[in-house]
Amino acid sequence: MEKFVINGGVPLAGRVKVSGAKNAALALMPACILNSGINKIFNIPEVNDIFTMMKLLKELGVNSDYNNFEMSIDSSNITSQFAPYEHVKKMRASVYVLGPLLARYGHAKVSMPGGCAWGPRPINLHLEAMKKLGAEIDLEDGYIIANSKKLQGTKLHFDISSVGATGNAMMAAVLANGETTISNAAIEPEITLLAEFLIDMGAKIDGAGTSHLIIQGVDELKSAEVTNIPDRIEAGTLLIAAAITKGNIELEYGNNDHLDSVISKLNDSGVNVINNNGLLSINASGLSAKNIDIQTAIHPGFPTDMQAQWTIYMALANGTSTVTDNIYFDRFKHVPELVRLGADIEVMKNSAIIRGVKSLNGAKVMSTDLRASASLVLGGLAAEGTTEVLRIYHIDRGYQRIEEKLINLGADIKRVSTSEF
Ligand code: EPU
Repeated sequence: MEKFVINGGVPLAGRVKVSGAKNAALALMPACILNSGINKIFNIPEVNDIFTMMKLLKELGVNSDYNNFEMSIDSSNITSQFAPYEHVKKMRASVYVLGPLLARYGHAKVSMPGGCAWGPRPINLHLEAMKKLGAEIDLEDGYIIANSKKLQGTKLHFDISSVGATGNAMMAAVLANGETTISNAAIEPEITLLAEFLIDMGAKIDGAGTSHLIIQGVDELKSAEVTNIPDRIEAGTLLIAAAITKGNIELEYGNNDHLDSVISKLNDSGVNVINNNGLLSINASGLSAKNIDIQTAIHPGFPTDMQAQWTIYMALANGTSTVTDNIYFDRFKHVPELVRLGADIEVMKNSAIIRGVKSLNGAKVMSTDLRASASLVLGGLAAEGTTEVLRIYHIDRGYQRIEEKLINLGADIKRVSTSEF
């Protein structure tokens, strides 16, 4: 096992490059199942979830060659439609293979993902979409068994906007007979990029980037190339790292509006964030954060994946603030650990009530999930004294060697081996 040992209190300064988006890559990789050929994806982050997806694809006979953040994915020799529990239990995004396998082979057996560290995360919308497209779905021994003749275009409406269900349904519908419409489709940037990748493969999709997609099924798709977008959540986390340490940093991020909700709230809190031709800079030198409430929402609202990080930022703000998670009502496993650092936070239903304190104090804390662990690292960077963050395998799932980026920005953080669990 490994842990981070952080000596807090250093204002971050300097410049780093933001890695490619984990969640976008996790949708682009299984999309390659839809064609028979060699696909290329550029700017893939080196994080453990990507390695899990590579292993899962290999299980199906899809070989990926990954070097220098570039991946070539060969889908010309698919031998299996079976996604075993062993891989799916490690990562819920594995369920993304369901739509493409069903569309191309008329059959898939995919392990049910089960619960998640902070509570239930159902996949009913994915399954309902597959059924509406004509698949028979049985649940047996923890597996989804999906069978269909050629999928048939249909009208899909999602009661809840879901990133994963939109991605899965879109990947299934591109090879269906006739027209599929998806209303209340997710408009997260990862889904827009997925639609663009599918269009480059020859799919006919209108409305990419909007909540209403119209898809005309085609008989087959060809291989394609795509450049992944930068990781908006990594960028947001680093901006908060600068804000919470009263630092001054620049991020090579690119020109996009994916992070606007977070940037706007950061500016409301008193810091100064600007994007100058793709270079995102934040200046928080000498500033104390104002208390700013946030509510998570689907894109372009404040992302749930930034909720834990905002919570620790507000723990050191002037006054009381409320952070409400409207996407995942139970996503507050980080709070008791943040309290160990001296934060004054109370969870009521799906809100954290945060009374700002003057300072945090280093302590041993334990990661419970990916974004929770990011909030603990942020707490450690701001706390007085030494913080040890245990179970950092969680952070390694989605942040590419976060400590290296932070060290480049002047932080005192070390990754060390430990027998502590
Ligand atoms: N939902 C259902 N039924 C479903 C699917 C979703 O009720 O069949 C509900 C969820 O419980 C949730 C809401 O719909 O309340 C939205 O969930 P969504 O399906 O959009 O989430 P996801 O696709 O499972 C992706 C990201 C998550 C991120 C969410 C929300 C990937 C691989 N994962 O998950 O990222 O939190 O969207 O933006 O793209 C992370 O990176 O730390 C992470 C958890």
